[in-house]
Amino acid sequence: MSKLIQTLSRKTIWLHWLVGVLIIGMLITGLYMLAFGGSELYLWHKAIGVVILLPILSRITWRIYEGFPHPVSPQATWAKYATKITHVVLLAGTILMPLSGFLMSALGGYGVYLWGVELVARKVDPLDPEKAVPINETISMLGQSLHHWIGYAMLAAIALHVAGMLKHHFLDKDPTLTRMLNKSKKL
Ligand code: HEM
Ligand code: HEM
Repeated sequence: MSKLIQTLSRKTIWLHWLVGVLIIGMLITGLYMLAFGGSELYLWHKAIGVVILLPILSRITWRIYEGFPHPVSPQATWAKYATKITHVVLLAGTILMPLSGFLMSALGGYGVYLWGVELVARKVDPLDPEKAVPINETISMLGQSLHHWIGYAMLAAIALHVAGMLKHHFLDKDPTLTRMLNKSKKL
């Protein structure tokens, strides 16, 4: 009787790729904005950053409900811990990045808008309407630092994550990557 080896649930696969692609896109636009500016891009970055909280919360709820996937083959203790730590950093980052971005923008007085729909109003200096007035500068600055450093932690974790996948696929030749692509071979 043929059976699939080491499959993952469809929800795990769909949520992994949906949130993964969105997060990579947001990290790239965030870094691009800092380097080159672009006020239109800020609006899109902030609006998409808020909206993707929906698939992110659904992904995290699903992970808590289902538990982490088991490795496809026995792993050394250090590898097991390295994988778990990387996955926890990635999942924690997916929730902390939108929250820190929201705090930075909303409490910095810059406002948060979903394509014209006001979530938090912009607060401006009456003498200089170009200038935002912070609602709570300390929390806004804290949000900014978290957004910056967690962003870099995520970039490092993604690099490790992809390197690990390439090792599994090309050196160990195991189905770690193919099962996340829903292409595990039948026995
Ligand atoms: C998954 C969600 C998000 C990711 C991955 C992300 C990623 C990033 C990154 C990597 C940067 C560059 C930061 C730096 O190097 O200092 C950035 C900048 C920024 N992000 Fe996000 N972001 C997300 C959500 C949000 C949200 C929800 C908001 C606001 C509502 C936001 C507002 C901003 C702003 C205003 C900047 C420019 C910061 C500055 O000028 O110092 N982001 N983002
Ligand atoms: C090109 C990029 C990526 C590739 C090739 C990739 C590949 C994979 C694979 C093959 C697994 C299964 C690991 C296993 O079965 O042990 C996995 C799991 C995981 N990946 Fe990625 N991934 C990528 C991007 C991302 C990104 C950007 C995130 C962060 C949001 C992420 C977060 C996770 C997490 C948390 C898991 C643990 C299982 C789960 O929660 O679904 N991945 N990834």
